[in-house]
Order: sequence, then C-alpha cells, then structure tokens
Amino acid sequence: MKKRVFISNLIPAAAYQKLSKRFQVTWNKHQLTEKQWESRIGPYHAVLTTLADPITAKVLNAAPHLKCVANFAVGFNNIDLVTAKANGVCVTNTPDVLTEATADLAWALILSCARRLPEGEKFLRTTGFKGWGPLFLLGQDLAGKTLGIYGFGRIGKAVAQRGRGWNMPVLYHQRHRESPSVEKRYNSRYVSFETLLRQSDILSVNSPLTTETRHRFTSKEFKQMKPNAIFINASRGPIHREADLVKALKAKTITSAGLDVYEFEPKINKCLLKLPNCTLLPHLGSATLETRTKMALLAAENIELVLSGRHPKTSVLR
Ligand code: DGY
Repeated sequence: MKKRVFISNLIPAAAYQKLSKRFQVTWNKHQLTEKQWESRIGPYHAVLTTLADPITAKVLNAAPHLKCVANFAVGFNNIDLVTAKANGVCVTNTPDVLTEATADLAWALILSCARRLPEGEKFLRTTGFKGWGPLFLLGQDLAGKTLGIYGFGRIGKAVAQRGRGWNMPVLYHQRHRESPSVEKRYNSRYVSFETLLRQSDILSVNSPLTTETRHRFTSKEFKQMKPNAIFINASRGPIHREADLVKALKAKTITSAGLDVYEFEPKINKCLLKLPNCTLLPHLGSATLETRTKMALLAAENIELVLSGRHPKTSVLR
C-alpha cells in the first residue's frame, strides 16, 4: 500500500508531480482551519503545509500515522515543535532556496520607503502628474547610511550584502556574534540591541519569530530609534507590536516603515492602512515563480526522504 501524503494549499504543481510518482497524494488546494486539519489529518503519513496552516498539538495528536510535516516556508512558527517531537514527527522547512528572493523584497521595501514610492504613485494615479517640483515628495539618500540588521542569519546577511551597493556600513544584532571573517565579508559590526536601535538609519528585521523575538519592537524601542529611521519587517509580524508602530509612524518618532508581514496576519491594523509613510505588502517575501518552485520541490524531497526512512535535507526537528 502506498503511503499517504496531504498537500494543504495551492502551491506550484512540481511538488504534486514529484510526490504522486511514489505516494498516494491528496492535494487540497485550499487553506484549512485548525478544526478542519484535526478532522482530516488522520490517515496521512506526511503533510506539506504552508505558514498559514495551524499545525497545533490538537492537530498533531489527531495524526497517528504522521511521520513528517514539511513546511513550505523557512519559518515554522505555525507548528507545535514540542508536540511534534514528543510524537516522533520530523519537521522540515525550506531555507536557502528563498534567501535571495526575500532579501530582494526587503530591499524593495527599503527603496520604497526611502524614496516615498507609494505616496508618489498614489498621487499620480489620483491627483494626476502636474509636473516636476523641486521640493515635491523629497525622500532620503541611502548611500553611506547605516544599515541595521536584527537577525543576521542567511536572509539578514543577504540584505547586508546588497547594502554594499550603497556603501552602507552594517550593524547587526542577534544572540551570537559572527566570526571576524564573516563580519568582514558583510562590512558589518556586532552591536548591542540598544546601539542597533540608536545608530541604524534603516533597521531591517530578519529574525525568526520565537518567544524571545515576539514584540521585540514596541513603543519603547521605536522611541530609541533615529527620527529619520526606516523600519523594515519582512520576517514575521509579531516581532513588532503593530499598534505601537502605528503610534510611532503617526507621531513621526521614526520616518517610515516597510512591512511585508503583520502581527495578526492576514488582518492589518486599520490605522496603518491610512498612513502615508509606510509601504505595505501582502507577505510576498519569497513570491517569485522560481523560488516558490524550488520551495515546493525541497518540501517534496524532504517528504520522500523521511518516508523512505532517510534524513531529510533541511530538518528543523527530527
Ligand atoms: C517563509 O518562508 O517563512 C516566508 O515568510 C514565506 O514567504
């Protein structure tokens, strides 16, 4: 009897094509709620999930045959790792393949905020272009500004590397310091969290969501940042407190924010939607056809490996 695999969402067909050669695959193509997961997961040996799938203790405990949860994302905060471990379920993610696309998107947000692209575009579409103006929609230069990175993993480093094009000195903060050769490669310096807040002109959040990073950026932190600072989050929404960010943007405590993620995603604070000094995107970090195809294939490969009793390529937990 073929082992059973469940694909939870509308992802690139490459995963289905690969997996259906060896397994009995159900491709759901729609988002499931926790309750729906609980009632459907029972027969499956592996599930290919997205970051919006709540793979909670209840869901995992309703899956007696489950051997693998392959998340189609680098983040895995949607999965209860403690229960997965207790149940002997291997959890995998899709790192590396999405690093460049996500760093590109973080930079799209940086450029958009620095040059006030949403305001310019909205003006042109609504009011109409009335001609060039010497003081019209002035933004700020990026060349030589200080780029701060919170979370200097693969994506944080790729964001830093792009900063070289603008001759930006990089400050970074995370739990551990990198080796001197890594620091040199990225023109970067390890600093305390407080220094990161005080000295960054652009502060890009690139850390995973953990109990330690949840609400790391609140009113207290925004107040320590420079008034010209641009805050970027293309990682996970709950790392900043959205209501506090709204206050900081309204009061011009910081200049602007570029967000790809939201605290209560997909819900967005209504006030945020009305503010001109932010660029808001609908979680597009890894959204290129090439990257999403690689993510689908990697997730599928991890399932194949686990179900054939081998080590997955990119495990979070095994
Ligand atoms: C991830 O992989 O965690 C991204 O947020 C998905 O785009």
